[in-house]
This record gives sequence, C-alpha cells and structure tokens, in this order.
Amino acid sequence: MTHPKGEQPMKAIVQAEYGAPAEVLQLRDIDLPTPEADSVVVRVHATSVNPADWHVIRGVPHIARLQVGLRRPNYTVPGCDVAGQVESVGADVTGFRPGDEVFGSPFLRGFGAFAEYVSIPADRLAHKPANLSFEQAATVPLAASTALQGLRDHAGVDVGTSVLIVGAAGGVGTFAVQLAKQWGAEVTGVCGTGNVELVRSLGADHVIDYTRVDFTRGEHRYDAVFQVSGTHSASDYLRILAPDGTLVLAGGDSDNRWIGPMGRLLTARLMSSFVSQRLTSFTVAPNAEDLVVLREAIEAGAVNPVIDRSYLFDELPAAIGYLERGHARGKIVVAVK
Ligand SMILES: NC(=O)c1ccc[n+]([C@@H]2O[C@H](COP(=O)([O-])OP(=O)(O)OC[C@H]3O[C@@H](n4cnc5c(N)ncnc54)[C@H](OP(=O)(O)O)[C@@H]3O)[C@@H](O)[C@H]2O)c1
Repeated sequence: MTHPKGEQPMKAIVQAEYGAPAEVLQLRDIDLPTPEADSVVVRVHATSVNPADWHVIRGVPHIARLQVGLRRPNYTVPGCDVAGQVESVGADVTGFRPGDEVFGSPFLRGFGAFAEYVSIPADRLAHKPANLSFEQAATVPLAASTALQGLRDHAGVDVGTSVLIVGAAGGVGTFAVQLAKQWGAEVTGVCGTGNVELVRSLGADHVIDYTRVDFTRGEHRYDAVFQVSGTHSASDYLRILAPDGTLVLAGGDSDNRWIGPMGRLLTARLMSSFVSQRLTSFTVAPNAEDLVVLREAIEAGAVNPVIDRSYLFDELPAAIGYLERGHARGKIVVAVK
C-alpha cells in the first residue's frame, strides 16, 4: 500500500467540538488518511451536504451523540458523500484500481468526506455513473440510498403501489419520486408552493402543496406513505393509510434538542402493534450493492440528480447553513478539487 502523495498534508474541514457549523468547522492542513486493509483512499472531487451533517456537527439531537461521541466528536472530519478518484487501495481490496472514478458514503463509518482525501470501506463504494459529473455523482450516495432503502425495503413500493412522499422536493424526496416512478408506482408528492412544478417535472402523478392543503385530511387511502420532511405524527397518517398500508418515517422536523424526531419514530413503532397498518422507521445503511442499483437507474436515464446550489470547498459552512434553512430544492453540492 503506497501512501498517497507521500507525507504531504491535505486540506480538510475539521471539527474539534460540537457547535454551529460556521463556528466549529475549520479549514486546516492535516495528515492524509491511512487506509485499512479493506478500504480505499479516494481523492475527493466533490461532496454534498445532508441534514445528517448539521446534526452531527451540532451534536443535536443530543441522543445522536451516543453514536458520534458524547462530549466531543469521535471523528476529525465530518462529511457523508464522496465522488472522486481512487488514489490507493488497501491490501484486501479487489475491484478498484488507482484512477477509477467512484462514489460512496462513509456515513457512520468514520465520516471524513469534507476533505481532499478520504478513506472509505470498499463495501461503501461503487464506480461512478458514467453519465454524471463528479458534482452530480456526489449528490447520490446518502440521499438516494435513503430513498431506495425507504421505498423498496421498508415501504415495499412496487408496480401499482399508491405512495405518498412527504418532502418530495428535498435531497431524499427528489430521488424518491423518480425511483418510485421508475418502479411503476402511482406517486403523490408533497411540497411547498414554489416546488410544485419541480416535483411534477420529476414525474409525480399528483402534487400536493402542504401550505394550502392538509393532506392528512384527504379521502384517498395510500398503500404507502414515506415521510422525509414535515412534522405530522403517525396518528395523522393513519387516516390516509389503506388498512394494510405502510408508513415509513425517515426524517422530519422536531424542536426537541434531546431526542429530535425519535419520540415520533418510537411512538409509531409502538402504535404499530395496535393497528392493522405497519408503522416503521429506519436509518439508512449505504452499501455498494445499492450504489450499483442507483448507478443503473441513473445510467438508464430514469433518475437524474437535482442540484439546487453548488459551493466551493472553503464555503462549506455556508452550504450547510443554506441546507439548515430546510428548503433546499434537491441537493447542495460542494466542489472540492
Ligand atoms: N432515516 C435516515 O436514515 C435518513 C437519511 C437521510 C435523511 N434523513 C432525514 O430526512 C429528512 C430529509 O432529508 P433531505 O436530505 O431530503 O433534507 P433536505 O434536502 O434539507 O429537505 C428539504 C426539503 O424539505 C421540504 N420540506 C420542509 N418542510 C416541509 C413540510 N412541512 N412538508 C413537506 N416538505 C417539507 C422542503 O420543501 P419546501 O421548500 O417545498 O417546503 C425542502 O425541499 C431530514 O430530516 C433528514 O435528517 C433520514
């Protein structure tokens, strides 16, 4: 295993303590990552930002610190999404060679994407879709894996499924609408007024503007509801779920600094025992197999990343600040190199 670029330092956005991104993130020179035998060092060309970033950078909700460090972060560099080129591979890695164009996610596996180089387990990496730029490819790993796993593995969306996607205009939602359409589902997307046309353009059969209509009071009964944004509770969704329908809670807003949306997620799981519908939640587990599924959907032209804004590397805290406002249209990307 050769060390990329000898002992030269790399530029990285480092974080020593929890707090506001603009205050605790620092652009510094640090040592290059040392790959494990099962990992690949990637020269990062682009990354994208996700709500997971500001949750772990702020350490909010506090319950998240059980996973990422109680008093201070147990990682040096945050960041969940990577698109770049293989710099070097660990001793046990097959399937990747220096120079390969790849994309992947070190989410909850050391993070580290906000840097010029990152070490990623090979099972979190795949070859980049040939028809995407690095910036486009960097939007895919975490958000599209969440959409894929939520709809396919947890909501069971398939041909003819009537699915409601709440938060259809954001990072996860824009991928979710396109994936569900590719599989032949009847898709209803929920978003704010300014994004109705965007969600329609992604293929949604119906679009509901949540600022005008309380969609939990409608007559239609959905086979599946996939909530990625919003504040509705499981009991609200019971009204619009078919008797054998499934509610999947992936995310959503909460003012609770201690447990965030966890209360809503746990309540849903408890309620599931007492109703005919299935109410569930999940945490995404990015993996190489799903990245290949996504790459094929992208190369087939069925899924296209939607990019709201693009930032430079030293503007990364501003990129997170924009995302934190909660109204991104698709994904926010950051060009690294
Ligand atoms: N469970 C997991 O493993 C997992 C993985 C990834 C993400 N998540 C969670 O999923 C959520 C969404 O992630 P993301 O990457 O899509 O975030 P995002 O890109 O920041 O989402 C922004 C979108 O949310 C929409 N939105 C805001 N308030 C809404 C409301 N009341 N009803 C419907 N849509 C609303 C906005 O649309 P408008 O501007 O039109 O309002 C905007 O398009 C976050 O809570 C994140 O933490 C969970």
